[in-house]
Amino acid sequence: MVHISTNISEAVACLNREEIIGLPTETVYGLAGNIYSEKAVRKIFDMKQRPLFNPLIVHIGRTEAVEQIAQNIPEQAYALIAAFWPGPLTLVLDRRPGIPDLITAGKNTVAVRMPNHPMALALLEALEYPLAAPSANPFGSISPTTAQHVADYFRDKLELVLDGGPCARGVESTIVGFPNGVPTLYRHGSTPAEDIEAVLGQLAYITHKENAPDAPGMLARHYAPATRTIRSAHMAQTAAEYPDLKIGLLLFDQAVEAPNATHQEILSPSGDLKEAAMHLYAAMHRLDQMGLDLIIAQQFPNSGLGRAINDRLDRAGK
Ligand code: TXA
Ligand code: MG
Repeated sequence: MVHISTNISEAVACLNREEIIGLPTETVYGLAGNIYSEKAVRKIFDMKQRPLFNPLIVHIGRTEAVEQIAQNIPEQAYALIAAFWPGPLTLVLDRRPGIPDLITAGKNTVAVRMPNHPMALALLEALEYPLAAPSANPFGSISPTTAQHVADYFRDKLELVLDGGPCARGVESTIVGFPNGVPTLYRHGSTPAEDIEAVLGQLAYITHKENAPDAPGMLARHYAPATRTIRSAHMAQTAAEYPDLKIGLLLFDQAVEAPNATHQEILSPSGDLKEAAMHLYAAMHRLDQMGLDLIIAQQFPNSGLGRAINDRLDRAGK
């Protein structure tokens, strides 16, 4: 049975044996292993049932370590590092020779981030290698934001989940790269695009259709509950269109008049997008376990963190 623990030395011992662990970060929990251990990295891909062409993010414990992972780092990347690390921003940079092909899926680039979670940072500080960590969910399902979510997904297949509490941000990191020197947003996430543009000016945006082979996290159907999910800007009206179905609602800040809805999840009664992002995946997990026929998810304001929330809910609906 998987062991849930807050003991960092236990995690160090496990990782040094080339095992993998559940790792808390401020965004979502990761499935983490030594980037230089082929055994550990293969186990990450196997357990997630993740295709080998989908590269992993390298997690480092101090900003300077980026130079051991990447080279030809543009000034603009340093500006983002100064502004946002540690934090939920992943940078796609030229890889250094020596970074295993399994990590980068054979690409010339590598994704790196420094997570802002005290337990993750203490662990990385205690290790002699960085950690590769994708989100700790089977490929295509909802990302985990508690240690228990990870334990429920992998049960006896995983030895240890380090318990760092519920994730404070709740949505994956924002991913930015510099193809041909142009700062480009690959994935909306917990660092709002507007905040990045305040540092670098206007970003280029690559939508999932254009870059599916490049950033498969952008595959159309991803982050998905098993229950059929649709989006709506008029919740009460949409709920009324399905009188015969068992319906659950996923709402921003207030309940709606919908007598046929079995359950309503309100992500932030005070209308705070940060709080809504933090609660998003746990609410999706709960709704998905209620035996519903249909989940109706509200359209969120399309700015700041609302863009990342809308992005995940759109993919859930595909
Ligand atoms: O918040 C997060 O980023 C979490 C926590 C655990 O750190 N991790 C996470 O990992 O979301 P994952 O594997 O679920 O998503 C990583 C995304 C994938 O879409 C992958 O394709 C993309 O990063 N990626 C990795 N390396 C890349 C590269 N060299 N070029 C473009 N995209 C890359
Ligand atoms: Mg993921």
